[in-house]
Amino acid sequence: MKQEKIEEVAFRVVGDMGGAFTMALGYVGDRLGLFQAVAEAGPLTSGELAQKTGLNERYVREWLRAMVAAEYVNYDPQSQKYLMSEEQAFVLANEDSPMFVGGAFHFTTPSICNTPRILEAFRKGGGIPYGEIGDEIPEAIERFFRPGYVHFLVKDWLNAVPGLTTRLSRGCQIADIGCGCGQSTIAMARAFPASKVLGIDYHAPSISRARRLAATYNLSNVEFLQAAAHEIPGNRRYDLICSFDCIHDMVNPRSTLRAVHEALADDGVYVWSEPNVSAHAHENRNPVGKAFHAISPLHCMTVSLAFQGEGLGTVIGEEGARALASEAGFSHFDRLPIQNPFNQFFALRR
Ligand SMILES: C[S@@+](CC[C@H](N)C(=O)[O-])C[C@H]1O[C@@H](n2cnc3c(N)ncnc32)[C@H](O)[C@@H]1O
Repeated sequence: MKQEKIEEVAFRVVGDMGGAFTMALGYVGDRLGLFQAVAEAGPLTSGELAQKTGLNERYVREWLRAMVAAEYVNYDPQSQKYLMSEEQAFVLANEDSPMFVGGAFHFTTPSICNTPRILEAFRKGGGIPYGEIGDEIPEAIERFFRPGYVHFLVKDWLNAVPGLTTRLSRGCQIADIGCGCGQSTIAMARAFPASKVLGIDYHAPSISRARRLAATYNLSNVEFLQAAAHEIPGNRRYDLICSFDCIHDMVNPRSTLRAVHEALADDGVYVWSEPNVSAHAHENRNPVGKAFHAISPLHCMTVSLAFQGEGLGTVIGEEGARALASEAGFSHFDRLPIQNPFNQFFALRR
């Protein structure tokens, strides 16, 4: 054994330990509005932040010190004040920024709290149904993906399919399956008022949340249906069907893909996103690959295995998606030329 190599492994674990605890404190900061308070108030002491947020000063001080060590917050030793740079605030404190990551904190910590149940699943099989994965998690997922839907879905992702946005502007039938809390569905309904958009998800609280959000925009071209994705209403053919980050979660992804193939108009397109990773673990030695691999047993795979599903897991990559598409009968499969840290996008045709 080489001492250097031993230390490398040990230090990697220490780094991950810091990352895991930082995620938990990031969750505290996100939930309690601490990042926003620091960003808004500019340089301030721990006492001033505690007063501003109505929180315990000793905890607030320790949180600030941890955030300085994590490089999420800066500290000026002379004035003993804490502050955030514009870039830190843009990423950590601005819910409407295209780079906002609060959803990552919101998703990670409650997910890790499920580990004791996952331990049981390793022993006995089965899993945690989506309805029991944690009350906060659907909203956390919504917040994690929202920046992409609000800022990039129409402008970059749908635009990457030649001619698609022009066609949607004229008026089309769109289905968004596994739509969660409806952020992607609503972004499309707002961008294409002449089109009719149907969001489908089997999780009732997410559909209720999506309906509430749609009501705030007074949209008359969007509808939400609580149903399994393979039950896409067959009374119409769709010009566009989308599934964002959900096929790999499904109990029976193959029957969903067959239903999509069936429901698509002859000249329709199916836009499908999956995590931006390779199907091969050894090619995923990077932060995004590491995150999605670790998420898989704690979330995506377990919600499928909970119902004796296929349990594809989070990491199917382009290779896995291609194989599933071909089995479902799609004749065309293209990877879209979209740069996105978290997702890769495919366009499929009948
Ligand atoms: C990771 S979330 C993604 C939600 C949404 N597309 C987004 O990007 O915010 C996966 C979603 O798939 C839904 N889902 C999983 N299996 C489903 C099925 N068989 N039919 C309908 N929805 C399903 C879950 O309820 C959940 O909302």
